[in-house]
Amino acid sequence: MAENKNNYAVHVRGVSKTFGAGTTAVTALKSVNFDAREGELLMIVGPSGCGKTTLLSTIAGTLQFDAGEIDVFGSALQKMSKSQTTAFRRQNIGFIFQEFHLIPTLSAVENVSVPMLINGASRAAAEKKAHALLAQVGLEGRGHELPTSLSGGQQQRVAIARALVHEPRLIICDEPTSALDKENGARTMELLQQVARAPGRCVVVVTHDNRIFKYADRMTEMEDGRIARVHEIKDGQSPEFIPN
Ligand SMILES: Nc1ncnc2c1ncn2[C@@H]1O[C@H](COP(=O)(O)OP(=O)(O)OP(=O)(O)O)[C@@H](O)[C@H]1O
Ligand SMILES: [Mg+2]
Repeated sequence: MAENKNNYAVHVRGVSKTFGAGTTAVTALKSVNFDAREGELLMIVGPSGCGKTTLLSTIAGTLQFDAGEIDVFGSALQKMSKSQTTAFRRQNIGFIFQEFHLIPTLSAVENVSVPMLINGASRAAAEKKAHALLAQVGLEGRGHELPTSLSGGQQQRVAIARALVHEPRLIICDEPTSALDKENGARTMELLQQVARAPGRCVVVVTHDNRIFKYADRMTEMEDGRIARVHEIKDGQSPEFIPN
């Protein structure tokens, strides 16, 4: 891996992305500059359609961008081939999708095990870790169940466990508490905060949920495909603004 000179977990410069062409084209990202640092939990807020999921997908390497540069821990995504990007993502990035994306034919514990199995762990080791993480998100004893027999909030917690199981350095979360009640939302954010503050790691959270703003180290506001403002959050103080 390349040397990571500035302690940036993510460093985005001039990234643009347009979907479609001609009269139906939608420019979702307009020369975005953005960074997330090692050891922080960074939140991104902004109105529906402003480009938050698009930005996360480009950082995760699941969506190609049209222009600009994205470094993740000092490695330039735009210089990687598709297979290099996939290998890099598998080792370094955990993603909690807005729509969960659990595999319907696999049990909760099997879903959570997938990232470790892909990275070469034995089934026994992967399932042991998966059971432990499911317990951490409040799903002890539910590991054998298929996603269809779990509630939306329970499925979301399986997705959170899956994003953490292989101990990736960067965790990217798209609305991780959207289906969670207050208690499970707080439990999830405490877990993500603990992960974010470990050396060399970083958590980026897109959210509309003002109950969880207090867990952010910094807040980034997006508007219409651009970063509008960045707020540093002092210890223990809640952010001085309420978006939306
Ligand atoms: N695959 C796609 N094809 C065409 N347009 C897309 C695609 N994905 C996103 N867009 C468009 O890009 C813009 C940004 O979408 P994006 O999903 O990034 O918004 P968002 O900020 O995540 O919104 P939300 O808060 O509703 O999840 C929107 O106008 C959307 O319609
Ligand atoms: Mg979105």
